[in-house]
Parts: sequence; structure tokens; C-alpha cells
Amino acid sequence: MPEAPERLEDLRREGERAIAGAGSTAELEELRVRYLGRRAELTAILRSIGELPPEQRGPVGKGANQVKAALEGLLERRNAELEASELDRRLAEDRVDVTLPGDPPSPRGHLHLISQTRREMEDIFVGLGFRVVEGPEVEYDYYNFTALNHPPDHPARMLQDTFYFSDQVVLRTHTSPMQVRAMEAQEPPIYIVIPGRVYRRDSDATHTQMFHQLEGLAVDEDITLGDLRGVLLEFARAMFGEEREVRLRSGYFPFTEPSVEVDISCFICDAKGRLHDGSRCPTCKGTGWIEILGSGMVDPNVLGFVRDNGYDPERVQGFAFGMGIDRIAMLKHGVPDLRPLFENDIRMLEQFGS
Ligand code: DAH
Repeated sequence: MPEAPERLEDLRREGERAIAGAGSTAELEELRVRYLGRRAELTAILRSIGELPPEQRGPVGKGANQVKAALEGLLERRNAELEASELDRRLAEDRVDVTLPGDPPSPRGHLHLISQTRREMEDIFVGLGFRVVEGPEVEYDYYNFTALNHPPDHPARMLQDTFYFSDQVVLRTHTSPMQVRAMEAQEPPIYIVIPGRVYRRDSDATHTQMFHQLEGLAVDEDITLGDLRGVLLEFARAMFGEEREVRLRSGYFPFTEPSVEVDISCFICDAKGRLHDGSRCPTCKGTGWIEILGSGMVDPNVLGFVRDNGYDPERVQGFAFGMGIDRIAMLKHGVPDLRPLFENDIRMLEQFGS
């Protein structure tokens, strides 16, 4: 055995080099056992100090303890370093890419049928040069009725079963009130569509107390009923097929004059009124025509409410229309009952994936 002091120096150097070169905490644990464990050379030296000649005991004991302390310190520091880098590596490896599809991939959701239909309708009108605007669902009686040419106590107010908050404030019964709000905010010419929720005390298979409408308004110089017809024909063809025709029938709304009801030729029976098997077409009830909306030329009395905003009824005129988004969706997708669309039963809604 070489002289203990030299051997201690060798052990220290060897241990230092090995610890510095360790690549993992597991390797480091092996080194701890090798240099400081029960069967380590250093441990043996410490244990045999009592057998040394008395004058060597002090210096060898001190030297051995110094080497032990030095190696312990190094082990501890290197261990901390390795633990930190191992954690970093694990974190990097375990990182979850939340944008990956699930395993097994979970189905993607889709828009509600009404939202899909609304967007499809908006796209068609945007393509025709209209702008999309929205308005409040809680509305003043003034915009919902008065400025739409329903004088106080006019019986037409009774045509719509209204939810009232107070004498002056209602849940809008149609999207038409935004006509006047929009004209207050923008001088003519104006070409807008207004989609949104409306409310009426009404409930059966094809009516819910909350439903959706899309309103249209065009005011400019030289607007005629022919323009209205052209726009609605384009809409009908984009929505229900190139072969569609439109038919205007006379109707009544307080805020249009003349007022018209608009039918499209039936896209189920191709306007024949009969199905292939000769039975009556249920969609158009055998008539070949389906009513889809109300419209007309904006009544000059309505323009009178926004005369100061640039709408001189002697100079500008326009057309307006309003249709049920829900009704369009029901027709297009053959939905017989509107109510389940708003009950949020996923089995119903997922049938209309886009
Ligand atoms: N607001 C009417 C309703 O809810 C629909 C309507 C008819 C809108 C004629 C219009 C229109 O803009 O000109 O029954």
C-alpha cells in the first residue's frame, strides 16, 4: 500500500474527475458508492486509522476526512446540476402539443344549424352589396312600432304578440326597428341586412318565443319594386337552387307601401305541387309556391321619421324585407318542428354538421 497521504491525494483527484464527468444522477449514485460507500477505499482508510502508528493517525485522519468532505460536496453540487438538466429534458420530452388531434381523434364540433343558415344568408347579401349590421334585442316601443308607422293604438300593434318591459320598452318583435336606427346613423344611400333574435308570445311546432329574422333595407335614389324583386330572386336562387322563381303577392305591413308577400317556387316538387309518386307535395302543400318573407317599398311615413338625417321622401325611396332565418333553415333541411332546435339536444344538433 502506498503511503496514505499520497493515496488520499490520488483518491481525491480520481473522485473529482469521475464526479465531474458523470452524465446522470444514476451514474453519480454509483460513484458515491464507489468512493464513499461502506466498501470504498477511503472508508477503509478511515476505519484503519487506529492501526496506524500514533504519529500518522492525526494527519491521515484529517486528510481522509478532508477528502471525504470534498467529495461529498462535489457529489451534492453535481447531483443538483444533473437533476436540473434531467428535469428540463423530461419537461421538454413530455410537452403536450394541444393542437394535435386526440387519440382517438375526437370529432370536431360545428355551428348550430341556425348560425350556419344565418351566415349563408349574410354571405349571399354581402355578395349583392349589402352590409351586415346588428341592433338591440331590448328595444324602445318607438323603434319597434312608432317609427315604423304604427301610430299609438293602431290595431297593427296587435298583429304581433309583444313582450313588454314597460309602456316604452319591449323585446323587439322583429328586426325592422333597426331600419330606423340605421338610417339615423347613416345618410343614404344605405344597403344593409340585419340578422338577429326576435321575441313573440307565440308557441307551436313552427313558432318559438325566441326566433331569428334577417331584415333587409335598401334606400337610394331611383329604387323600384323591380330592384326588390331582382335582389330576392338572386337570394332565392343562391339559397334554394338556380331554377327557383319568385312571385310577389300583395300584402300588408304598416311600414311598407305597397307591401308584398314573396313566395319562391317549391324546390321539393320543382313547383309541380306533386311528388314523383303523385301525392301532394307537403312542403308547398300542393301549390308549387312557398311563402318566405314579407317586404315592400319603404313607406314615406317611415322616411319622415329620419328626414333630418338626409332621408327626404321626395328624393329617396327604398325597399325593405324581413324573413325568418329559422323558417329558411327548416325549409332547406326538411326540419318539421322548430322547437327541438333550441332544446340543445346534441343528438338533434349533430345531424346538421357542416
Ligand atoms: N317585420 C315583419 C315581420 O316580422 C316582416 C317584414 C315585412 C319586414 C315587411 C320588412 C318588410 O322589412 O318590409 O313580420
